[in-house]
Amino acid sequence: MSRAIKIGYLGVMLVLAVGCSSKQSGTVSLGSYPDPQSAGAKMFKARCAECHVPPQPSSRKAKEWPNIVDRMQHNLVMRSSKPLTDEEQREILGYLQKYAAGQS
Ligand code: HEC
Repeated sequence: MSRAIKIGYLGVMLVLAVGCSSKQSGTVSLGSYPDPQSAGAKMFKARCAECHVPPQPSSRKAKEWPNIVDRMQHNLVMRSSKPLTDEEQREILGYLQKYAAGQS
């Protein structure tokens, strides 16, 4: 009897824990990124939010973005996810560099 109660309690805790953690991985709001309606921003949001909250384009300099996007491509391959197409890479990189920090 008391064992059944314990197991029931554990079950409730598990549901609560999962419920909380899934809240965080909700969709990322595009509003806080520059030019949110542009094709580049949409593609950036679609492809760069799979694993982490995507950083602001202005968090890096334009010349730093190509290396990072390359590395993310590698991360995608390592994870057996669909790699970025050439077009996606170009579009996302263009977007990131357009709003990147300062000048190289
Ligand atoms: C397959 C999962 C995955 C996707 C998709 C992904 N990232 Fe990442 N990202 C990671 C991981 C893992 C790290 C930490 C390790 C690293 O830096 O490679 C990271 C780290 C980063 C960093 C910090 C690293 C640094 O050197 O400053 C930036 C910036 C970043 N990601 C941007 C992006 C952008 C932009 C995209 C879309 C093109 C993207 N990520 C897509 C997995 C991913």
